[in-house]
Formats: sequence, C-alpha cells, structure tokens
Amino acid sequence: MTILLAIESSCDETACALIKDGHEILSSIVSSQIDTHTLYGGVVPEVASRIHVENISLVINDALKQAGITMDEVDGIAFTQGPGLIGSLHVGVQAAKTIAWLYHKPLIPVNHLCGHIYANRFVDELKFPMMALLISGGHTELVWMKNEWDFKIIGTTWDDAIGEAYDKVSRILGLGYPGGPVIDRIAKEGKPHYILPVPKTANPYDFSFSGLKTAVLQLIQREEKKGNPIIKADLAYAFQETALQSMVKKTMNAVKEYQPKMLVLGGGVAANSRLRELMHEACDGMGDLQLIIPPMKYCTDNAAMIGAAGYVAYQHGMFGDFSLSADPGMEMPGENE
Ligand code: KG4
Ligand code: ZN
Repeated sequence: MTILLAIESSCDETACALIKDGHEILSSIVSSQIDTHTLYGGVVPEVASRIHVENISLVINDALKQAGITMDEVDGIAFTQGPGLIGSLHVGVQAAKTIAWLYHKPLIPVNHLCGHIYANRFVDELKFPMMALLISGGHTELVWMKNEWDFKIIGTTWDDAIGEAYDKVSRILGLGYPGGPVIDRIAKEGKPHYILPVPKTANPYDFSFSGLKTAVLQLIQREEKKGNPIIKADLAYAFQETALQSMVKKTMNAVKEYQPKMLVLGGGVAANSRLRELMHEACDGMGDLQLIIPPMKYCTDNAAMIGAAGYVAYQHGMFGDFSLSADPGMEMPGENE
C-alpha cells in the first residue's frame, strides 16, 4: 500500500489530497479563490500567491485530518511543479519541500497536465494506447499516449485555450469570471439564432479560438449598430456549439486515425455538460472505444489528480531533490525529446 500526500497550487485553487495506491481518494480539499478573483474579472497572479500563502497549511492539515492519516503513514509528497503561475506554484513547491525535509519523505514533482489526464484513474484503470483531450483555462491539447507515462502532443491551440475563450466571451457578454460554468448554464436556454464562423487550422488536430471570440465581439457591434438587442443566451449557445462541435470533430478524427483503446478528457472545460453530451454521442457506435470523463470536481484543479499522476511517477522512481524549483513553463515528460 502506498499513500501519497499531494499538493496543487498552480493557479487559483489551493489544494491538498491523500491518495492511496494512485486511485483511492482518502481526502481531497480544494480551497478556491474564485470569489476574490471574480471581483477583478480574472485571476490576479499577485493576489493568487498571497492567498495560497494564507491557505496552504490549513488545507494540508484539513486533508490529513479528513483522511485520518498521520505523516508517519505517508510514503511521499507529490506536488505540481508546473506549468502555471510562478508565484502560485512557488507556494506549493515550498510547502512540499518543507514537509518532505521535515518528515524525511521522497519528493515527487508532477506536471499539472499529467495530473489532469490521470484524474481519469479515479473512474477506471487506464488502457493504452490512449488519446487524451486536455482542455483548461491555459491549455487545449490532444495527447497521444502509446503507453503509461508516455506523452506526445499531436494537436494544440494556435492562440487562446478553450477555457480562456469561454472566459473572454463571458466577459464580453458581461457574465463575469469564470466564464465556463455560466455559459454552460445559460446556453441551455439559447436557441439557434446567431451564426459564427467555424475555427480553421492547417494541421487537422490543432485548435484556434481567438477568431471565434473576435467574431462574437464583431457580431455584438453589428447588432448594436442595427439597434437590435443582444440575446445573451442565444449568443452563448452559438459560441458554445461552434467551439465544442469543431473540437469534438477534430478529436474524433484523431481517434479514427490513431485507434486508441480509450479516450479520456481532462481539465476544467471537461466539466461542461454539453461537451459531455456531445462526446458520448460521438463515441456511440465506435466499437470497443471506451470514453472516460472524470467527475466534475476532478475536472477543475484539485490535488487528488496530482496524487494519481504522482503515484505513477513514484512507481517509476521519478523523484525530485531539494534543488528543484517551480517551473512555470514546464513541458510534459517526453515533449522535448
Ligand atoms: O483546469 P482548470 O480548473 O484550471 C486550469 O488549469 O486552467 O480550468 C479552468 C477553466 C476556466 O477557463 C473555466 O472557465 C473552465 O475551465 N470551465 C468550464 C466549465 N467549468 C470550468 N468551461 C466550460 N464549461 C464548464 N462547465
Ligand atoms: Zn488545470
């Protein structure tokens, strides 16, 4: 039996979890800063790191208490080394190093994106070869995994990440931050009314969302010039359908070409209810292909997923030492080979 204490602080969530054997969640505490950042219309990095400093020890203590585990029973400290906001990451890295030093535990540095992929381990055992669609506020990536811990990015965004596009469109519509959950909700009342251009890229598996965001802005300006009121739900619907349908189509084309056993989703946008529906529809009738999407609370940032990925790194003996520091631009393992 292996118990890992995992820490995540790459953006605006301070989180700690205790994970048994990489897939059993003994506790998972997430302290969100969303209420604070909402006041500014987005994440303010300096504010984020200050709140992480205030919360990190509370969150770690809560996670240990809720799991009923003492530090003696912990086998290693997994933590997010990158990518993310430097100041935010720094707080988690220092906390992990301090605990590891104090209690003589091995340090396991984890890439945040690997965490989003391994959040699927809480649903089922992962089967390889596997395709992962990583969709968050900072990333839009199609990752091909021939084997465990073997990551190859076959498609990425040319400009904005999809979550970033949700957040920007939400701001344009005056719906606040974060944009994903509110657009998800109001698009349900929207009707097909506005037409937006489908994003195009030269590489079939790459993505682009900035043109779509600009098209939303231009549509509003055109309608306002004509004196027409903007129906926010209809525009949210048009944006969401255009963005998601093109993303699902590209993903399924990649699946047809690469023939994985499993397709998994990860990242905050994987919490989207319409995307979940579209993905299930697209995978119906795809033979033996198994689709997994993590439960909503493990799609958005959390430390449990860092514990799941950290367990694989632990098994492979991929430990860090006390000289390591936060790596805001960290690449996925194998990406630069
Ligand atoms: O993975 P995450 O929590 O943080 C990053 O690593 O970026 O993702 C946050 C992103 C935000 O852009 C947020 O608007 C989006 O995920 N998001 C959603 C939904 N819930 C969160 N996007 C679409 N639909 C949702 N229901
Ligand atoms: Zn994330």
